[in-house]
Amino acid sequence: MQPQTRKILIDTVYIVATQVLAYYGIRYLLSNSRGGAAENQGQKERGKAVAKKLNLSGLKLNEYESTIMGEVILPDDVPVSFSQIGGLDDIIQDLNESVIYPLNHPELFTSPSGLLGSPKGILLYGPPGCGKTMMAKALARESGAVFINLHLSTLQDKWFGESNRLVRAVFSLAEKLQPAIIFIDEIDAFLRTRASTEHEVSSTMKAEFMTLWDGLTSAEGSRVVVLGATNRPNDIDAAILRRMPKQFYIKPPVAQQRKQILQIMLKDVQLEKGFALKELVSATKGMSGSDLKEMCRNAAIKPLREYIRSNPPAAGGRRGSGAGEARH
Ligand SMILES: Nc1ncnc2c1ncn2[C@@H]1O[C@H](COP(=O)(O)OP(=O)(O)OP(=O)(O)O)[C@@H](O)[C@H]1O
Ligand SMILES: [Mg+2]
Repeated sequence: MQPQTRKILIDTVYIVATQVLAYYGIRYLLSNSRGGAAENQGQKERGKAVAKKLNLSGLKLNEYESTIMGEVILPDDVPVSFSQIGGLDDIIQDLNESVIYPLNHPELFTSPSGLLGSPKGILLYGPPGCGKTMMAKALARESGAVFINLHLSTLQDKWFGESNRLVRAVFSLAEKLQPAIIFIDEIDAFLRTRASTEHEVSSTMKAEFMTLWDGLTSAEGSRVVVLGATNRPNDIDAAILRRMPKQFYIKPPVAQQRKQILQIMLKDVQLEKGFALKELVSATKGMSGSDLKEMCRNAAIKPLREYIRSNPPAAGGRRGSGAGEARH
């Protein structure tokens, strides 16, 4: 073989080999960097299970809607009901009348003026630990609507355009499953005031969300609402606040509300004869529902602690040897 031909042959083999290597190398890197793919798969599997439980076998969902389906909460999986919420009866009643009834009985809420019907956005706001998330959970159980508990992490995707497709899927899925509630906890993190320094993907995602939300408002007979909860309402974009005309301030409980919360929390607890609930109510001024829960938990563990102290359980091997060392 001529040296010239030989050189051409070697060069060709070399080029082909590097191309093949580069191809498989890039494929390997891409498949690894799509680490979220497994998570996404898990989400889809969850979605399939939910669809099965909701009896939606005939419903056609695209890839993105299947991912969002994993965020749907089934009423039976929620351990909280309205009866477990203390001191917020007026808000529960208002939510019932202005949200749940229009979602479930649209025929009662139609008028030529278009002024009736459910609001397309609801905001629960107020200081931490006063029952916003709890209220939303109870709503998931009692509303009779499909409840999409949307997490920001589900919408975030590093591939350009994917996040927007997922946002679109949230609304298209809600329309398919309506009546539906799209719930975003800590909504300030997702829809905070837009800044010029913000990442482009995040701002286009928000813009997409707002446009689709407007679509709900204009769509006749749409039974989808967006429900948000936050303890930082001032951080939410003004344009978003406008889309949530129904706002409920869940304030720290006053004496009467604390009494109701304590009564619910202590319902199944054996109390001392003549237990002074009134004094406890006045002594807990300034406490939130969450503080009251912690207080009750601490109180409930006291008898157990006393019992353990007076009847110490048999010492384990390690503890025994430790005690032995201490005695030396
Ligand atoms: N009104 C209430 N009735 C009964 N329990 C309550 C009430 N408010 C709060 N709690 C108790 O406090 C816990 C925390 O409440 P929740 O998660 O709803 O607070 P939050 O308002 O969402 O707070 P954050 O703003 O920090 O998210 C509840 O799981 C519940 O045990
Ligand atoms: Mg909360």
